[in-house]
Amino acid sequence: MKVITKIAEMQKQIIQEKNNQKSIGFVPTMGYLHEGHMALIKRARQENDIVVLSVFVNPLQFGPSEDLEAYPRDFERDKKAAEDSGVDYFFYPDVNEMYPGAPSVKVIVQDRTEVLCGRSRPGHFDGVATVLTKLFNIVLPDRAYFGMKDAQQVAVVDGLIHDFHFPITLVPVETVREEDGLAKSSRNVNLLPEERKQAPALYESLKLAEHMINEGVRDPERIISSMAQHISGQTSGIIDYIEIYSYPDLKPVSKIQGKIIIALAVKFSRARLIDNMIVTVNE
Ligand code: PAJ
Repeated sequence: MKVITKIAEMQKQIIQEKNNQKSIGFVPTMGYLHEGHMALIKRARQENDIVVLSVFVNPLQFGPSEDLEAYPRDFERDKKAAEDSGVDYFFYPDVNEMYPGAPSVKVIVQDRTEVLCGRSRPGHFDGVATVLTKLFNIVLPDRAYFGMKDAQQVAVVDGLIHDFHFPITLVPVETVREEDGLAKSSRNVNLLPEERKQAPALYESLKLAEHMINEGVRDPERIISSMAQHISGQTSGIIDYIEIYSYPDLKPVSKIQGKIIIALAVKFSRARLIDNMIVTVNE
């Protein structure tokens, strides 16, 4: 595995690989790798000749009062995990390499951001879309791998690839969970022990929603209020949102029908957790 910190070097290596007809799979991350990231790498490994992993904590996607400083980092551990899982190129630029000065162009996301994390984290998806535009142009992947844990991010990247004509196939990958159902996240280490015990209630509330839908409930408000009751009863977290939309266009629904997303965000003392479930109802 090659560790590369410079953009020019990364582009040079990739162009060489492409000249040799190699297909490129790309897994962009902010590091502190866990089994969720590993599932993306594994899938990329199966489907491509060359796998590129990037680790870059992107300041542009953090709001002023968010956890940029507290975001966990461990280069040596990430490097070992990447090497063990068969990554070919570990792209690890620093902030000055990615943002050497004030940017002259920024990508603004117009659609699919007025709800969920887009509403509670203004500017977040502009930061994601901007860094991904840069990374896509550096890594020139054939396929890019994204986790459904961040389903709104998948919807936004889908729009970015489509609108800007990136010749890239977006591959969404199922959410990987702990045994007790908590979605794996780099932020889970910032939960206090008591909060960690409570956190499975988030996934339980999604299962409760699924159960209600299977029992024939079609009123989104009724589902949302049962989920809120479950989370408030089981955790000390503060509910940021629990919302239901059509997926992937993220439009409001008055009735559970077709492909929908049930998504939530809950703030604990040092970590804000998100989770979601996609459900399809055809009746
Ligand atoms: P990060 O939070 O590090 O996540 C990197 C990728 O791993 C994302 O596609 C995310 O959805 C996926 N992922 C995280 N937890 C997962 C889980 N439990 N199961 C499956 N996949 C999971 O998302 C970002 O970084 C950044 O926004 C980035 C795209 C790198 C742009 O800066």
